Amino acid sequence: MAFYFGTNLKMHGAAAQTRTFVQTLEQGLEPFAKTPGVQCFVLPPFTSLQGLAPHTNKLWLGAQTMHWADEGAYTGEVSPVMLKALGVELVMLGHAERRHLFGETNEIIQKKVQSALRHGFRVLLCVGETEQGSGAAMVSAQLETALSGVGGVDAGRLLIAYEPVWAIGEGGREAQPEEVQESLQTVRRTLRTLFGPRGGVPSGVPVLYGGSVNEENCAAYARLELDGLFVGRAAWQAEGFLRVLARSLGAHAARATTEGGA
Ligand code: PGA
Repeated sequence: MAFYFGTNLKMHGAAAQTRTFVQTLEQGLEPFAKTPGVQCFVLPPFTSLQGLAPHTNKLWLGAQTMHWADEGAYTGEVSPVMLKALGVELVMLGHAERRHLFGETNEIIQKKVQSALRHGFRVLLCVGETEQGSGAAMVSAQLETALSGVGGVDAGRLLIAYEPVWAIGEGGREAQPEEVQESLQTVRRTLRTLFGPRGGVPSGVPVLYGGSVNEENCAAYARLELDGLFVGRAAWQAEGFLRVLARSLGAHAARATTEGGA
């Protein structure tokens, strides 16, 4: 049973603060080391990445976005080559805030996905509809365009986070587990169309859920057919991260046991 669990720190925390957060998390993750298949990750702001990789043994260190070019006249941007040099393992692409506040289109995200995979990163691709109830077509189109040209071998380094835009951040509405389940099926169906029955990789492309996940609701989501949770606000303190993780894992493991015994 694989279970992925991570947080995007967005534009929060200077480097020293992130270092403390990561060090506390690494210690707190010790008891989870015995649970097979659990993989946690953290996506700090760019300015916190320098020097952080040696402190992340249990966590994957990730970036919140990147430019597709190796270098060039792209003021303010950060390239895959620069991220590689910092020991980054995972790059998130297509987060709702990048799409809606910074105008990233599916075509731009496609270029970034291809570049990130070419540079050997794992890619956490975020998709999600803007309007409640309008999900399937938009989510399928986001996946189809962003992943166009990605071969089966590279699909082994993909993770998908389904995050309905209306459920994300302050003012977001918590999605009902049934709504999430339906959209997860859309995601998996689209991945099957793109990569074949198991998404081109033996265990399938992992699909995570995110959007106002917290300590109270995480168990209900973790019982769904998903491979992990992607958490914002509720995981920005190490204690919160670890509490949500523990609850989610308990619920996910119970589901796996029930299924296994069925
Ligand atoms: P949230 O953030 O958990 O604070 O809603 C999720 C996200 O933006 O990915």
